[in-house]
This record gives sequence, C-alpha cells and structure tokens, in this order.
Amino acid sequence: MPKPRLNPRSLPYCFLLLFSAVISSKIVAQSVTIPVETQHNAIVFQTDKDQQLGTIYFGKKLSKAQEYTQVSAQYQQGSDFTGVLNSVYTPSGSTNLLEPAITVTHADGNNSLNLVYVNHELKNISNNVTLLNISLKDPVYNFKVTLHYKIYFKEDVIEQWSTINHTEKGNVVLHKYASANLYLKGGNFYLTQYHGDWAKEMQPEESKLSHGIKTLDSKLGTRADLFQPPVFMVSLNKLASEDEGTVLFGSLAYSGNFRTDLELDFQDNLRIISGINNYASPYTLKPNEDFVTPVFLYTLSTKGKGLASRNLHNWARNYKLLDGKGNRLTLLNNWEATYFDFNEQKLAGLLKDTKKLGVELFLLDDGWFANKYPRNGDVAGLGDWQENKTKLPNGISSLVKEAKQNQVKFGIWIEPEMVNPKSELYEKHPEWVVKQPNRAEHYFRNQLILDLTNPKVQDFVYGVVADLFTKNPELAYIKWDCNAVIYNAHSATLKNQSHFYIEYVKGLYKVLERIRTKYPKVPMMLCSGGGGRVDYAALQYFTEFWPSDNTDPLERIFMQWEYSYFYPAIASANHVTDWGKQPIKFRTDVAMMGKLGFDIVVSKLPEQDLKFCQEAIKNYNGLKTIIWKGDQYRLSDPGTSNTASMLYLNEEKTSGVIFNYLVNNRYAANSSLPIPLKGLDPEKQYKIQEINLYPGTSSSLKGTQVFSGDFLNTVGFNPDVNSGRTSVVLKIEAVK
Ligand code: DGJ
Repeated sequence: MPKPRLNPRSLPYCFLLLFSAVISSKIVAQSVTIPVETQHNAIVFQTDKDQQLGTIYFGKKLSKAQEYTQVSAQYQQGSDFTGVLNSVYTPSGSTNLLEPAITVTHADGNNSLNLVYVNHELKNISNNVTLLNISLKDPVYNFKVTLHYKIYFKEDVIEQWSTINHTEKGNVVLHKYASANLYLKGGNFYLTQYHGDWAKEMQPEESKLSHGIKTLDSKLGTRADLFQPPVFMVSLNKLASEDEGTVLFGSLAYSGNFRTDLELDFQDNLRIISGINNYASPYTLKPNEDFVTPVFLYTLSTKGKGLASRNLHNWARNYKLLDGKGNRLTLLNNWEATYFDFNEQKLAGLLKDTKKLGVELFLLDDGWFANKYPRNGDVAGLGDWQENKTKLPNGISSLVKEAKQNQVKFGIWIEPEMVNPKSELYEKHPEWVVKQPNRAEHYFRNQLILDLTNPKVQDFVYGVVADLFTKNPELAYIKWDCNAVIYNAHSATLKNQSHFYIEYVKGLYKVLERIRTKYPKVPMMLCSGGGGRVDYAALQYFTEFWPSDNTDPLERIFMQWEYSYFYPAIASANHVTDWGKQPIKFRTDVAMMGKLGFDIVVSKLPEQDLKFCQEAIKNYNGLKTIIWKGDQYRLSDPGTSNTASMLYLNEEKTSGVIFNYLVNNRYAANSSLPIPLKGLDPEKQYKIQEINLYPGTSSSLKGTQVFSGDFLNTVGFNPDVNSGRTSVVLKIEAVK
C-alpha cells in the first residue's frame, strides 16, 4: 500500500496508521481507518472483519482523531442484518438488502457483487487540494471499483466519483453505477429540494425525510434539470437556517440524466446515493475498459446554509467555473427587443444604443440565420447556420465591424445541438437526428436534437462555433441555447442503444472540450430557455448561465435567492427586460445582483429611465468586483419576510453593497424592523449611503449614517423599504 503523504494544513493523515493498530471490542486488529478531512469536517472510513469498507463518521472534525473509532459504539440502533448498511459503495446481489450504489451482471451471467478494501493512496495536488483513491475489489470476480475523493480543504468541499473496471472473460453489464454513496447518522433529516418548469425554475420544497427512498432525478436527456435540478440540501437533526444548523449541500455535476436516492434506512440513518440515472441505460463494459462516473460534489456546514453557500462559491470561483475569477461583460441583448424581426438597419440602431446605454457588448439573438427555410420564427431554420441574406446581406462580419466602430463588442446566439425538421440540415442528414425509426416524431418547441453520440455530428456542432470564430475572430461572446428535451431516444449509428443517454453527454463534453482547447476564455452563456441546464460539469466550459426566461424582477428575487445557495453571483446572467410591473429602477437593481445585462428597447426608454440606467451601469462597474467575488450574506429572506435583503461584502470587509426589496404588496408592508447585517468587522466603523437613486428623487435615509460593525451586526440597519421605496440599494464602506 503506498504511504499517504501529509496534507500540511490538516490533522496528520498518518493517524490512519495508528488506527490500523487500534483494537476495540468491535474492531479486529488490522482494520484500516481512512480519514477524509477538510478544514472543519471529517469523513472516516473503516474496514470491518470481512475487509468491507464502511463510513464510521461524517461530521464536524473531532479534536482527538483517535476518538473517531469510538463513535459507532455510541449508537444503539439494532442489528445491521446486511453487514453493509454503511458501505462506502454498496454492492448488490450478496448481503445487501437496501438501495445499492452498483449492480452488475458478470461475464458468466452471475448477478452478485461484493466489494472489499484493497488499498488506498493519497496524492497532494496543491497546498489546498488532495486526491484520495480507494481501491475495492470483488474477492470472487476480477471486478474493481476505485473511489476518488478530491478534497478541497479550505472550502470544505469534496468532489467524489468512481472508476469501474474489470478483467473478466467477456463483457460485464452495469445496471447501476453511482458516483457516490454517503452515509449520515443524524436522528432526523430534512430535505430541501427544487422543482420547476419553464419560467418557474428553482421552486424550493422542504420536507422531513421519512423511511424509504426519496428520489430526485431527471430522464429528460438534455436540458435535464427543467423539472428538477440536481442540487439539494439535507439538514441534520433540525432544519438548518441561514446561520445555524448542520447542513449538507450536494449535487451531481452532470449535464444529462441524474438520479439521487436518499434512503432513510431501518436504523434511521441516511444513505445518499447519487450518479447518472440508470434509467434505460444498462452499460456494457468491456474487459479493461474504465467506466468513469461524473463527480458528485458536496459540502457540509455546521454553521448553517449561508456558510455552505459561501464555501461553494469560493470553490466554484477557484476551481470549477470557467474563468471564475475573471471579468464578465455587461451587454445589451436584442431578443425581447426584436424577437425574430430585425435587419441590418435595425441592428445598426441597436449597436448605437448599446454604446449609448453604456454596456460593453451587443448580443445578437436567435433569427440571424437560414435561407431556404429562413429563421423568422421558431418553426424553421435551426441547423442552417448561414447568415440570412435578406436580414443580413453583408453578413455577421459587417456587424462585428460596425460594433467596433461603436466601441462595443459583438456576441452571438447559437443553438448548435438542435435542428428544425424544416431545415436543410434535416433534409441532408436525417440520420443525424435523434428519433425512433418506426415512430412518429415528437417535437419540443418545434425542434429535435442532433445525435451527439455520432462523431460526425460532434464535428458539425464544433464546426458551427469554429466557423463563426474563423470568419469573425473578434467575436466576443456566445450564448449557447438548448431548448428541447430528448424524446424517442435513439441513434441511427450507435451500436448499443442502451448507451445512448450516456454517450450523448460524452459527445457534448467532447465538443465543448474541443471548443475550449481552441478558444479557452471566450465568455459563453449556458442557456436553455431558462434554468433547464446548469450544473458544475457544464460550468467548466461556460462563464455564466441563464437562470430563467422569467425576468420579472419580483420572481427573480426568489429564484436568484435559491440559485445563490449553489452558484456564485458572477455566474448568474441577469437581464433587465420588460417583464413584470416594476419600475426600471427595481428591475435594474435586481439584475445587478449577478452579471448584468439588458434586453429592452433603449430608444423607447423615457429620458429619465435612460439616465437612471446609465448611472446604474456606472455604479455597477464600481461594485461588480464585490458582487462577483465578494462573500454573499442573505440578510432577510423573501420567503418569510416583507423584505428581501442580500449583502455582498469584499474579503477585507471594507466595502459592500446591500440590495433590499419590498416583496409584499399588502397594506403598509414595509421593513418595520432593522435588518441585522452579517460578516462585518465589529471593530470597524462603516458608512452607509443609498445609491442607484432614480433621477429627481432623494434618499429618505437622512444624516450621516455611520455605525460600528458591532452595531450593524447586532442591531442592524433599516433600509426604509416601503411601498414608496420598493427597491433600495445601499453602499457600505469602512471609514477611519
Ligand atoms: C430561449 C432563451 O432563453 C431566450 O433568451 C432566447 O435566446 C430564445 N431562446 C431564442 O430562441
């Protein structure tokens, strides 16, 4: 067994060697104990007398590492009839009686699997990141599983995945192949899950988990999280609040069908098994072939949801989101301003408006392409990525040039994975389309999916992007849309149709990988007619995502609130549109809480509205670093209060911005109580000033507003939100 190396920031890893010698009433000699430690937490694994590896602890790090082995004895929860209740990766067909992490049919047709510990190794990747690999094997069959744990020490985040491999005399069929199998002891467990639909994304639901299995899943194939995203929270013992309670945030990082089973077992412990959804997907694995699962990521906080979210944000910006600490471009999009109805002349006006408004980029949306079946609506043209000669006789390149003359950048919309049946592409390559040969086609937004399992289709999709960049090297932004789910899953070329869903996602990642190799940093928005597609695997290729087509700012306050638990503000593309009844100030303030964009007819804005927007963009430019990279503190929850309030604070705790909104229209609803701030340095003095005021109005916050951090954290501050002041933005700065 290779010797583990020390992580300089953690408790010495060598204590696992000490543990190997520990003998207690329940543990026989030679048992192996493997701790997985982050800054505040520990997961501890231990082998039993049969060398099966189980989780003996998952929670706050204990100060005396040797006491982990004494934890189990404190639980009197009855007999484990299976011997594998706490398995690190539950096999099936041997002694297991509950939900497995893996099920297989061996080459000889046998369905049983047992997994025992073989060895483990620890690799230092950086000062902060360690990779633990644990090898398990079946004592009877030549079948192996390696569990991988990428440990982000400071952020308390773990990425976990598995590699499945065998050297049997023939193919093995995997019926289930989870990424991770967690085991938590808690007493009571509360699940926070999300559901949705178009324009109704990220609706939270909380429930106490009861015995049996609760499954969160998707079978949509692509834009997989339209009805249910893969993110969830589990509170232990009692529902965690923003700043109190123990809570686990988890999500599969995968852009296809996912499945997370939360099983409260007969001993009242929680088993969480997450991975690719095995629905319609038995996987035939050849000898010596690796099946590598996607990552399941999780973070545990013993100080509430706020800390868990800040840890995830830091992890995402540092390690996952493309260009997570980089720059983003403010923009004007023409989708809601023109829909499909535009031409060069109209766009020339919009390019001028982009400059006039004061944003950095003009984004040309859907409708610019296709000639035989022009893209003048969503019924035709998808797949034919040549400029429409009637609308754009001089092509995209003349628009890029014109943008430059207006001193703004140019970006463009594509939906390269899709095809309208009414298109030249469909006529030429019906075999590239996902459909059942003997069944009627069924459409989602009048379109079908291109078969990304086919390498020729992968080349085509890559070509759509590469071609745009070759012809227009100065193209500065891509909005990558994806508006359909997969019906009639079938590929004309794939040998094993059961691999379809998995190979589709692999094909997508291959294309994105190629794009990013050639164009590493061009900002790309992951869009899907709304939040039907955001996950941390895709975000490795995208700089931002589109949370929802619903841009009604009141709705957005709620949606952005929920998204913000899992994704940092820099990744959330928020546009000011004409949705909703709120004034332009309210709409702009809400959109400023992430990556700001506009999708309005600038030329029709009343003078004062335009002036407000121009000033707000200037303010945003001054604040964006804090919004994108600062710590986010949720101060007042729109779900339980009349006011929503969110603070973004820089790391030094010297500058911040607080967004406050009235979210209740009832008589006299207001911010009646002060809203305690969070995260401020109690020793510092802070000046509070209202910004983003509508022209001709003044703030109701009179006098010099200077308070100690202690006062603001303890007593709070009243933004004076009421029906006359529905949206209040406050700048907070440390003063000497
Ligand atoms: C759905 C997107 O969410 C919209 O912003 C827009 O790009 C349309 N698709 C275009 O068809």
